[in-house]
Amino acid sequence: MSKKLNIGIIGLGEISSAHFAGFGSNPHSEIIAICDSDEKWLEYCKKEHGVRYGFTKWQDLIACEELDAVAVCLPNVFHAEVSIAALNAGKHVLCEKPMAANVDDARNMVEAANRSGKILMVSYNQRFSPDIQYIKRYVDEGNLGEIYFVRTGWRRPMGMFPGPGVARASGEYSRNWFNEKAMGGGVCFDLGSHVVDLAMYLMGFPKVKSVTGCAYTKFLPEVLKDRGVTTDADDHSVGFVKFENGASMHFEASFGSYVERQQVFQALYGNKGGVYREIGAPVKLFSSAAGAYTTIVPRIDLPVVTPMAHFVECIIENKTPIVTPEQGLAVTEILEGILKSTEAF
Ligand SMILES: NC(=O)c1ccc[n+]([C@@H]2O[C@H](COP(=O)([O-])OP(=O)(O)OC[C@H]3O[C@@H](n4cnc5c(N)ncnc54)[C@H](O)[C@@H]3O)[C@@H](O)[C@H]2O)c1
Repeated sequence: MSKKLNIGIIGLGEISSAHFAGFGSNPHSEIIAICDSDEKWLEYCKKEHGVRYGFTKWQDLIACEELDAVAVCLPNVFHAEVSIAALNAGKHVLCEKPMAANVDDARNMVEAANRSGKILMVSYNQRFSPDIQYIKRYVDEGNLGEIYFVRTGWRRPMGMFPGPGVARASGEYSRNWFNEKAMGGGVCFDLGSHVVDLAMYLMGFPKVKSVTGCAYTKFLPEVLKDRGVTTDADDHSVGFVKFENGASMHFEASFGSYVERQQVFQALYGNKGGVYREIGAPVKLFSSAAGAYTTIVPRIDLPVVTPMAHFVECIIENKTPIVTPEQGLAVTEILEGILKSTEAF
């Protein structure tokens, strides 16, 4: 392909650096437009990254006819409205995780993607890590037999709560939306969306039968009490999911609690074997295939692929991304199920 895809990035906060790097270094894409409501920061980023167009309103970026695709890197509550508008305007969309702030929004995004015929991919970046790709192949080869239980989680110790503000070149910026329910904040949707997605991906997205859980707001109000900010989102969430095939999933996500250290983990239990994956540690495969119970630490040398590179490849080659809108919806249904179950409780 001779022409590069023209990319626009909407939202220039922390995660945008991965999009600048991913699209900027790809020989088949070029970032030609960016958008942020913070005008001073927008101007800074425009110069810093040498981008042609800058907009303070996402509607103006989407109206830019030269664009082939947009990356939506806004607070969660805006994901649906902006992604749907972009799809309706004929752009492919790479939307940051979580897909949306609630199930209704996620469902509308699926419909918009199907109607438009454009790609809508949720940027579940952990799926692309070599260890997850290795485990996915190992599972799909049948090495675990029937997977009947998965434990998945991301817990952080005290001291790792999302800060309400950060300093950047344009001045102090409020990032407190992570702690606000109305903005789609809270750990269940934030860290939880990654680990529920990973568990579902490795299990092959079985159909959900029931979801129960508890979402707690135990520490945020105390930790941020002198900062004058809203702190009504969940900071520790747990859940239990039953699937129609008889399997189940235990889920835990925490912005901060009295635990030893940060852990991001998936433990898969099958009737022929098991897997334990934890970020920062080697993958472990458990099996009796050789006649005795063994633990194997495999050598993993798969290439690192970014979500941006995969998204670009799928557009150019007209392929379906490994993260589909329907999968994003299924993850959102579980996350919302946990929060709703708490309200009932
Ligand atoms: N994949 C990952 O591992 C990962 C990591 C971090 C964040 N994220 C996701 O990326 C998204 C953004 O997170 P972040 O950490 O970059 O947030 P952030 O708060 O650092 O940045 C958000 C940016 O959006 C801008 N903004 C807010 N409302 C706007 C609007 N209406 N129009 C235009 N600009 C607006 C803000 O000025 C800010 O610069 C979230 O959905 C988050 O969950 C994903």
